[in-house]
Amino acid sequence: MQTKRWATIAGMATGALLGACGSNNSTSPPATSAGCSTLPPMASITPSTTIGFAQFYEADGLWRTANTDSIVLEAARRGYNLLFNPPTSDEAAQQVSRIQDLIDAKVDAIIIAPHDETTTSPMVIAARKACIPVFIEDRTVDTTVAIPGHDFVTYIGSNMVKEGQMSAQWLIAKTGGQAKILEFEGTTGSSAAVGRKQGFDETIATQPGMTILASQDGDFDTQTAYNLALQLLPQYPQANWIYSQNDGMSFGIIQALHDMGKTAGKDIQLISNDGTLQGCQDLEAGLIDEITQCNPHFGAPVFDAIEQYAQGQPLPTSILNTDQTIDSSSVASYLPQAF
Ligand code: AHR
Repeated sequence: MQTKRWATIAGMATGALLGACGSNNSTSPPATSAGCSTLPPMASITPSTTIGFAQFYEADGLWRTANTDSIVLEAARRGYNLLFNPPTSDEAAQQVSRIQDLIDAKVDAIIIAPHDETTTSPMVIAARKACIPVFIEDRTVDTTVAIPGHDFVTYIGSNMVKEGQMSAQWLIAKTGGQAKILEFEGTTGSSAAVGRKQGFDETIATQPGMTILASQDGDFDTQTAYNLALQLLPQYPQANWIYSQNDGMSFGIIQALHDMGKTAGKDIQLISNDGTLQGCQDLEAGLIDEITQCNPHFGAPVFDAIEQYAQGQPLPTSILNTDQTIDSSSVASYLPQAF
């Protein structure tokens, strides 16, 4: 492959903040061998309160970096001890082991951005049994396994089904309900990929003139999507639109088209998801037609939720962010939020 367009994208975030491990939460129920059988209460917040954060790694993760920064910086702004060991692997196994480390450290609460629904759910239950309240952000877990309001306090994130619907609705309006689509899915089993696919596919299915020719896992990853585009585009020469479930994959698709002597936005049109700065610049350059926003800045609402919970205030089991559609008519006003 020739020079990658994404070569300059930074790897994992910032400033890993490794706070000192805090003392036990003195007012939590005693962690007997049976542990907590339902949602553990949280003690009042003091200077020694320690919050654990379990993230996962993404190689070209502009979104993930912005999300990590949001949590880390908000913790610092509010003066919390944040116990955060920056991830180095995109495998779910490392996140599982990081969550176990936080349980062993007896932190006062744990924030988790789950890699996928299946792998993370048992760890949420393990934390609850160890009497540690869990706050889930970004992606969610399998809520038939780890029950909201019982095994974890709340989910703070985007409505991924709605994002898929928004992408499809924009495409229907743009094409008058006529399109042959290739769908690049995100990481298998992640709620972001599952929800976006459900919302997109169900909405497209209402249109007799629209067909999803193929739908495959691009792992929310630039290189994977590049390889997948090289494979799918010659197989489906009739495709005239691509739905890419994140900007990172869109960058790989744009590069693949370029390497095949084609141009995104001319030979085939592309819609994306996230709202990165590079994605917006590609939109302004005509390489991407639409981006459905996925706001990564959950630091403030996550710590608001933790503080409300520690004060004994009732919380809903999900706190959803409202995202917006970004296209040529709205990109200028969105740009100050791009990451
Ligand atoms: O869960 C949010 C998704 O995760 C973002 O769309 C994507 O860029 C990241 O991989």
